[in-house]
Amino acid sequence: MIIEELKDNEIQCIAEIEKLSFSKPWSEESIKSSFNSESCKFYTAKTDKIVGYIGVSIAADEGYILNVAVHPDFRGQGIGRKLVTFLIEKYGESLRFITLEVRPSNIAAVKLYTSLGFNKVGERPSYYSNPVENAILLTKYLNSNLEI
Ligand SMILES: CC(C)(COP(=O)(O)OP(=O)(O)OC[C@H]1O[C@@H](n2cnc3c(N)ncnc32)[C@H](O)[C@@H]1OP(=O)(O)O)[C@@H](O)C(=O)NCCC(=O)NCCS
Repeated sequence: MIIEELKDNEIQCIAEIEKLSFSKPWSEESIKSSFNSESCKFYTAKTDKIVGYIGVSIAADEGYILNVAVHPDFRGQGIGRKLVTFLIEKYGESLRFITLEVRPSNIAAVKLYTSLGFNKVGERPSYYSNPVENAILLTKYLNSNLEI
């Protein structure tokens, strides 16, 4: 498996994985708009096809994980862990921290992040809809030498 930057002609494939993964998936259009934004980067996990992806938005030395998803047929094989680890390693020097929101009921995702050193730093009441649920805010600190 390799991890590489998302290409323009692969956005539809990412949108398919989104649909299979979330109750309110990002549309192909909204992925395209983030893909075209200077501040966002998307990376895909590939075997002979795309099996997962991760998106990050960067503002100065702060990173925000937009989404991470693995195709349902390929879950539980370490791909999600590889995608998040890839991001931590790639941005370990250039970012002060990476943060994200997650549903507390999303046990797989919460366990994935916390096992990689993300800690709860806050909660956003009724952040999600369909179904309504609070978000927990998880953060992993990276390069503490960067000036604030
Ligand atoms: C969350 C998600 C990306 C994990 O991807 P994955 O490739 O299945 O995860 P991995 O196989 O790399 O597992 C990594 C860790 O996640 C946790 N995990 C994964 N699946 C799990 C499950 N079904 N139950 C509990 N923990 C689970 C475990 O801690 C696991 O580590 P371990 O294997 O050492 O126990 C995947 O389940 C997914 O796409 N879910 C739908 C989209 C989503 O919820 N994204 C997160 C939004 S914040």
